[in-house]
Amino acid sequence: MAWLVILLFCLGQIGAQFPDISARNKPELQERLLKLFVKVRQEEFFDTLLVYGEDCVFHLISKLLNVSTVLVSSGSTSYDWNFSSLTLILSCDPEAEKEVTNRTLMKLQRNRRLIYLQGNIQPESVCNSYSQKEQFNVAMVGPDFDTSKYIYACRYFPDPKIEQVHLSDMKPIYIEHFRNMHGAPIKTITDLLAPRSMLYIDEKSGETKLKGYVSNLINNFVEKVNATMKFELLEKNISIRNILKKVQADQIDIGTTLETCIHETPLDTASYPLLLTTYCLMVQVPAKLPYNMVYAMIVDRLVLVIIFVMFCMLSMLLVYSENMSWRAWKLSNILLNDITMRGLLGQSHPFPLNASKSLRIIFVILCFASIMMTTMYDAYLQSYFTDPPFGPHIHSFKDFGKFNQKIAISTIEVIALTNTNNTPFREIPKDDLRIFEDWRVYIQLRDSFNLNYSYLVTGDRWSSFAEQQKAFKEPLFYIAKDLCFSRLLFLSIPLRRHLPYRHLFEEHMMRQHEFGLVNYWKSHSFFDMVKLGLVPLEDLSQPKAYDDSLLMEDISSILKLYLAAISLSTICFLIEIGADKWRRWRELRN
Ligand SMILES: *[C@@H]1O[C@H](CO)[C@@H](O)[C@H](O)[C@H]1NC(C)=O
Ligand SMILES: *[C@@H]1O[C@H](CO)[C@@H](O)[C@H](O)[C@H]1NC(C)=O
Ligand SMILES: *[C@@H]1O[C@H](CO)[C@@H](O)[C@H](O)[C@H]1NC(C)=O
Ligand SMILES: *[C@@H]1O[C@H](CO)[C@@H](O)[C@H](O)[C@H]1NC(C)=O
Ligand SMILES: *[C@@H]1O[C@H](CO)[C@@H](O)[C@H](O)[C@H]1NC(C)=O
Ligand SMILES: *[C@@H]1O[C@H](CO)[C@@H](O)[C@H](O)[C@H]1NC(C)=O
Repeated sequence: MAWLVILLFCLGQIGAQFPDISARNKPELQERLLKLFVKVRQEEFFDTLLVYGEDCVFHLISKLLNVSTVLVSSGSTSYDWNFSSLTLILSCDPEAEKEVTNRTLMKLQRNRRLIYLQGNIQPESVCNSYSQKEQFNVAMVGPDFDTSKYIYACRYFPDPKIEQVHLSDMKPIYIEHFRNMHGAPIKTITDLLAPRSMLYIDEKSGETKLKGYVSNLINNFVEKVNATMKFELLEKNISIRNILKKVQADQIDIGTTLETCIHETPLDTASYPLLLTTYCLMVQVPAKLPYNMVYAMIVDRLVLVIIFVMFCMLSMLLVYSENMSWRAWKLSNILLNDITMRGLLGQSHPFPLNASKSLRIIFVILCFASIMMTTMYDAYLQSYFTDPPFGPHIHSFKDFGKFNQKIAISTIEVIALTNTNNTPFREIPKDDLRIFEDWRVYIQLRDSFNLNYSYLVTGDRWSSFAEQQKAFKEPLFYIAKDLCFSRLLFLSIPLRRHLPYRHLFEEHMMRQHEFGLVNYWKSHSFFDMVKLGLVPLEDLSQPKAYDDSLLMEDISSILKLYLAAISLSTICFLIEIGADKWRRWRELRN
């Protein structure tokens, strides 16, 4: 067998199966080690032991402790570590741990390690070789532990050294090194994508610094762990994906950017998600309807039908209660009932003397309907003449062609959306897309509110656009809630795979978020951008000069309609008179 894994659950005190003559002959050593384990367990609880290497004293001890034990005598597991994370790692000698599985290495990176030194190996060299593997929680005991009672613990900051801790000391054996990094550098790279990170020159110190809600988070972390930040800027002509590539190639520690990593599994190079946001389109606000369309638009077909049905019903009731018989129902009586027509239009009409009770009730209904109708249309007309309504909005990705609009998108986003097989994105006809090779050109167009395109925008960026638009007379864009590529977009910060202080960073990140700082910075980001001169505080909507009152031509179509109706009724009137005259003339002749 290449490797041997035995899981011993609560083995208790079963007799030793692994002969280690020298250790077995030293009950003193076993007893001391047992005490050490109890001390280590008091410092931080563990419930699993992982023992690398072949027979040594640790195998004996593991049986005395009531914890589950995984034995890896070959030095490497061939599967991902899927046991408890509360694991103490024991190595029978400094070379015994030869782990190669990436996931196991990541998961067990910050677990505590206790190494049994054999021969005359220097503790310094052991610390060195472990620190090269970025494993920092290391302590050692020598074979003379029974007499010396000293534990060698590695310490890295401010200088690498060995600390000797006595078994009965109150000092901790393992410490969290990265809580105080004593000015060690943290390398980062930024894309300067406002408002996440923005460059400015600090007036007091004259240094170049970063600001913005992602930069602030990282700045605060650097300050918290007493490190120094070494940041570089992404070159102008280079893709934003390069940040992720550099993080994956272990060239930088933390990327000052936000990355969505839905498709990059496992999430080795991403932090816990910082933001949960949407990814939608910002679309140009449609133009307002011209005044001469207002008359046409307030007449809704459904409402017309309802009015017509109401008209017929009222006429029928009226005719019936006047004659108390349905025999009076004639098409001409019902469709051309002048009382109902005048009543509905709010005009005066004759009220029969000695009307019955039911007739009166019908007149009351008619009166009520006429008040409702005339006030409704009056209100519609007046408010729309004051402020005309917007034209139709786009509700589907397929409709962009119809509205003669194009969606601007950068190549990076096209690749990401294609890779994730995004359904809404596939719906868009390729002709409606305008793909920009250079993402900076695209961002520039979007930031300047260029009206030639619609743009993809994340919810967090939109909030600062919305803030900016408050200074406009008329908003130029709106976020289309029904045109989204994703409603659940996780944004996280890229972190190097084996970042030793990943847990500290994530804890810091969540604390700042929980405290509301991230939201506070986000809500202030527009003002920061204005302060740094990145956006102008001016109205980009190019408002038209104040347009004056209604003109004749705005209601000309209605007047034309009116003229046509008057002419039609005049002609009808003339024909009626003419027909009467002609009939009389024929009667005279006969
Ligand atoms: C392990 O369990 C046994 C019995 O369950 C107990 O006697 C022994 O003290 C325990 N050992 C330790 C180290 O807790
Ligand atoms: C750990 O994972 C391996 C494969 O990845 C699987 O065969 C094994 O059963 C798992 N062990 C436990 C304890 O889940
Ligand atoms: C493990 O990580 C290294 C870089 O850290 C990478 O080159 C290698 O491909 C990874 N192996 C697996 C199996 O993912
Ligand atoms: C922070 O690091 C500096 C060295 O860069 C060191 O002089 C200082 O004492 C450290 N601060 C704390 C609180 O340890
Ligand atoms: C980016 O521009 C620099 C010079 O400004 C040039 O040296 C570099 O090759 C360019 N990189 C790419 C990917 O075009
Ligand atoms: C929009 O596009 C047209 C032609 O395609 C161009 O003439 C115009 O300048 C563009 N508008 C803006 C604001 O860039």
